Amino acid sequence: MIWDTAALGGRERYQLLTSLVVPRPIAWVSTRSPEGRRNLAPFSYFGAVAATPFLVSISIGSRAGVEKDTLRNIRQTGAFCVNVVTEPQMAQMNETGGEYGPNVDEFERAGLASADADSVDAPYVADCPAVLECRLFKVVELEGGPNTMVICEVLRLRLSDAVPLAPGPRYADAAALRPDGRLWGDLYAPLGDTPALKRPAV
Ligand SMILES: Cc1cc2nc3c(=O)[nH]c(=O)nc-3n(C[C@H](O)[C@H](O)[C@H](O)COP(=O)(O)O)c2cc1C
Repeated sequence: MIWDTAALGGRERYQLLTSLVVPRPIAWVSTRSPEGRRNLAPFSYFGAVAATPFLVSISIGSRAGVEKDTLRNIRQTGAFCVNVVTEPQMAQMNETGGEYGPNVDEFERAGLASADADSVDAPYVADCPAVLECRLFKVVELEGGPNTMVICEVLRLRLSDAVPLAPGPRYADAAALRPDGRLWGDLYAPLGDTPALKRPAV
């Protein structure tokens, strides 16, 4: 099977993209609206961009032509946290993924406690073992479609004592963190085997 992506419909492109770029880590993004309302939602268009400066990206679609709450809050406050989604939190993460209106506090909805980040004005998931406190670095408007890419600068990292650093200077222990990835639709990809491969010596 060979497809020219331009000949496919948007839905088919989405299905092929999300089933071939897998598994994707999930950013659980917490923000506060300028009026002070907490917001929390998962995003699996999430990637590492650079270590210097320390950058990650998320890509946010629109809902019936209207910006999602997360994007609106980020544009208005420039502040947010990326909570790394781990296996024990999958059900609560999923609960926050409903298409709720801006008046719904997803922390409340999922029975989650929040705490306040100290480097930015945003809440984070208090029980999340790994949190990236972020400020907006750049918004990239993607022409030709509903998505907007948000590049975030990570100002502060919060790692629970339950997640030790693995041997080596600053690697978090993956088996303790238990990050969960997303495949497509309702399918997820908990951390499986983690084989090590030595790079070729040149
Ligand atoms: C696991 C998972 C991953 C998701 N990834 C994305 C994504 O990358 N981009 C996006 O726009 N929506 C994504 N969604 C849908 C949003 O979470 C959903 O639209 C949510 O209601 C947005 O909330 P907000 O309006 O409070 O920002 C995802 C949902 C789930 C459950």
